[in-house]
Amino acid sequence: MPSSPALDEFLIRDTASLAEAANRLQKSKLGLLFVADAAGRVLGHLDGTMVAAKHGAGTAAGAMTAGIATGAVALQLDAQGYAASLEMPGQARRVPIAEPTLGGNELKYVTECITTNWISSQGSYVRRFESDFAKLLGVPHAIAVSNGTVALHLALAAYGIGPGDEVIVPDLTFAATINAVLYTGATPVLVDVSADTWNMDPDAVAAAITPRTKAIMPVHLYGQPADMAPILALAKRRGLIVVEDAAEAVGASWNGTPCGAIGDCGTFSFFSNKLVTTGEGGMVVFKDEKIAARAKRLRDHGMNPDRKYWHDEVGFNYRLTNLQAAIGCAQLEQLEGFLAQKKRISNFYNARFAAVAGIATPAILEGFANSYWVYTILLDTADIGISRDAFMARLADAGVDSRPVFFCLHDMPPYKGFAGNRSFANAAHISAEGVSLPSSTSISDDELAFVADTVARLVAACRLAKAPAA
Ligand SMILES: Cc1ncc(COP(=O)(O)O)c(C=O)c1O
Repeated sequence: MPSSPALDEFLIRDTASLAEAANRLQKSKLGLLFVADAAGRVLGHLDGTMVAAKHGAGTAAGAMTAGIATGAVALQLDAQGYAASLEMPGQARRVPIAEPTLGGNELKYVTECITTNWISSQGSYVRRFESDFAKLLGVPHAIAVSNGTVALHLALAAYGIGPGDEVIVPDLTFAATINAVLYTGATPVLVDVSADTWNMDPDAVAAAITPRTKAIMPVHLYGQPADMAPILALAKRRGLIVVEDAAEAVGASWNGTPCGAIGDCGTFSFFSNKLVTTGEGGMVVFKDEKIAARAKRLRDHGMNPDRKYWHDEVGFNYRLTNLQAAIGCAQLEQLEGFLAQKKRISNFYNARFAAVAGIATPAILEGFANSYWVYTILLDTADIGISRDAFMARLADAGVDSRPVFFCLHDMPPYKGFAGNRSFANAAHISAEGVSLPSSTSISDDELAFVADTVARLVAACRLAKAPAA
């Protein structure tokens, strides 16, 4: 349903100075104005880029582009040529950042679980989900668990990581990565991220290794692979375990190897905003058979698989239910299509933002196949002249949902003590300037155009304050 806001906000006289136009654009909800003559007939439209191109000299009419259709937003005129309504087909609903697509066999498989009474973790869908996932990753062992956080904990526990050990964690990640280390009693060691991948900086990792270091935990943030070659080389040289937190990176790959299958072990999350979802859920994949067997035992209370109710060690209940695995199986059947949608979305945003001053798009690096779980940009807030949070408020006002990049772990009370005297300049910069945009696989072309145009126009409108018109 097209929406039709009050039009006055979007109309400016053709004779208005560009200083006035700049002022009005900065306040315009969409960073867009329509130019009308003295009689009120609409002649064209104007945005921040058009005003900036004139360096402040001239009138609104001199800077405008003729026409009233501006991509995702179009002005509707009445029979006399007067503005009648503003049509924004992409604003039909508030576009969520990442919502699940459950259009495959999910209902059929879940119904089967219920009609056959197999709803606990004992059902066949759990085994099928594990086997399908192992095949997808090209690894011998995949163990389904209740969520991506316990996947990380189980991985570390299976390697026997505990008190006295150190585990290297990037400063820019969701808190679950560091929390899992803390659950084991080991000490997390925070390191900065690289400016290009936004993931663990290999040089910072090398500098943080001590005789107590046991593992390195690269995270593939938002689906962008970490720079794995130097991390693997370091791990090999120093005898360290590499546990990849691939919670956000199903479908991403590095030099042809799926993320999660590059190191010794990889973990995934199937929370509802993830590319593959089971509502809540997770997976751990291993290459080593013995470690995988231990992880399986630990997932099931530490119980001996051949001797019921005999516990070899203290374990956990980290199992996934058959109901959840049934959804997961149906989701995996659609993964190729989901990834194609993410490609469509990232291609669209990349093309739209390529020439927009003040926006940096995710780095495209040789051999790094980003799955673009959520498409995230960096604002050059010094150039745009508005803080990231104020910009997000402008987006919300225009009807576009956005999400800030994670806070730096070293800034938050529970994790301050794990920063040492290391620098976190890149993480701090990305955390302060990063904005994730709507990236659901179900987003329509209209919605995508509306979001991208609104972001680009608001950036251009805000920048006008930096170079005021004469
Ligand atoms: C990088 C990262 N690691 C771990 C997790 C934890 O996954 P879950 O929410 O399934 O516990 C998430 C979840 O969003 C994540 O983004």
